[in-house]
Amino acid sequence: MKALVYEGPRDVVVKNVPDAKIERPTDVLVKITSTNICGSDLHMYEGRTDMEKGRVLGHENLGQVVEVGEAVDRIKVGDWVCLPFNVSCGFCKNCERGLTGFCLTTNPGMAGAAYGFAGMGPYSGGQAEYLRVPYADFNCLKLPDDAQDKENDYVMLSDIFPTGWHATELAGVKPGESVVIYGCGPVGLMAAHSAMIKGASKVIIVDLHPDRLALAEQIGAIAIDYSKGSAVEQILELTDGEGADRGCECVGYQCHDPSGHEVPNATMNDLVKSVRATGGIGVVGVFIPEDPGSRDKLAKKGEIVFDFGLFWVKGQHIATGQANVKAYNHYLRDLIHADRAKPSWIVSHELALDEAPEAYKHFDARDNGWTKVILHPAGMQKNPKRQSTQKKAVRKEAVHAHSPA
Ligand SMILES: NC(=O)c1ccc[n+]([C@@H]2O[C@H](COP(=O)([O-])OP(=O)(O)OC[C@H]3O[C@@H](n4cnc5c(N)ncnc54)[C@H](O)[C@@H]3O)[C@@H](O)[C@H]2O)c1
Ligand SMILES: [Zn+2]
Ligand SMILES: [Zn+2]
Repeated sequence: MKALVYEGPRDVVVKNVPDAKIERPTDVLVKITSTNICGSDLHMYEGRTDMEKGRVLGHENLGQVVEVGEAVDRIKVGDWVCLPFNVSCGFCKNCERGLTGFCLTTNPGMAGAAYGFAGMGPYSGGQAEYLRVPYADFNCLKLPDDAQDKENDYVMLSDIFPTGWHATELAGVKPGESVVIYGCGPVGLMAAHSAMIKGASKVIIVDLHPDRLALAEQIGAIAIDYSKGSAVEQILELTDGEGADRGCECVGYQCHDPSGHEVPNATMNDLVKSVRATGGIGVVGVFIPEDPGSRDKLAKKGEIVFDFGLFWVKGQHIATGQANVKAYNHYLRDLIHADRAKPSWIVSHELALDEAPEAYKHFDARDNGWTKVILHPAGMQKNPKRQSTQKKAVRKEAVHAHSPA
């Protein structure tokens, strides 16, 4: 089968690899029709992880089941399914509590496994024609009969929509509260979408890419371009000097100053300053225990200089980590089904698998207009029902999804 293979830093190619197949009776095989490129792929693409050469990338996957293992009960051939990026077992201590991002059995020695991901187990990614899905009864999210019509929305349930939602959960967002989000990439935009759905009174989002900030404004967020002045000062001004009730970190360890120079503690310390006393901070942007590729001495060891004194005095709390996608994906699916959520408004490009290497280049450069790329490995024409997300009308729907019914 054809798949996108990581060959080394900034070097990915589409080539033939051995077919994905059922390996255990609890597996299913999925023909991938939509698979996204994610900001997390970029940490690997840039050579800033210990990703092994020769591995297939892709953890944001949706498709149709083509084969089921003998021990699979619930999932049938022909089902349309979206796969959480986490590979989880369903029976370990963490999975039993719903913490499927920290499964203890699928990646022994670590907590948490994922498809096509550095340090998260041997699972091959879905930027490919087919994907093997372990513990399929547990992991597959079945999609309703509008699966194909809303494919570009439902594919966001694999990662970024639940992850954005998770950021707001970790921060503790409640109706009526103000929320500041650092990072207006796909994850930050999904955090903004989630905060709006939860009834936040004010959503402020910080980045320096005008195209991304414009998307946030389309759903009613207040955009701050931190290359044009201090974000913290503007946030304090917008919140009567108090700071926002809640803050979300949606950038991660490669956060940088306006000139592009990496400053790994920038967003965390800015959040402490931007959030009010006793407020909550949710961190879904990825931080890693070792970053040998960093120029920063401490960051090489996964450490940052953190403004703990101010954090303590303000009595804030922080929660972090990979999103437990299964904790939210059913509910978020139903919001999409009911037209109360429209995550596809951020999609900028739908491309064939062969175009993936070029797409990685543009998305990695955060080139203007490259907000979110969906690859369609089964072909661009196979699904006549799939709604193109590049129409203005669809983006308007995203705005309307936030209006009270
Ligand atoms: N916790 C999880 O489960 C989970 C899941 C998916 C992605 N992630 C992580 O979330 C992060 C964001 O993902 P994405 O797909 O949106 O990536 P992205 O790289 O496309 O977006 C990050 C955005 O942050 C902006 N940024 C950089 N420095 C900044 C600063 N100092 N202040 C404000 N904004 C700044 C960039 O301009 C960019 O637009 C990544 O670290 C990714 O690995 C985590
Ligand atoms: Zn992702
Ligand atoms: Zn588990």
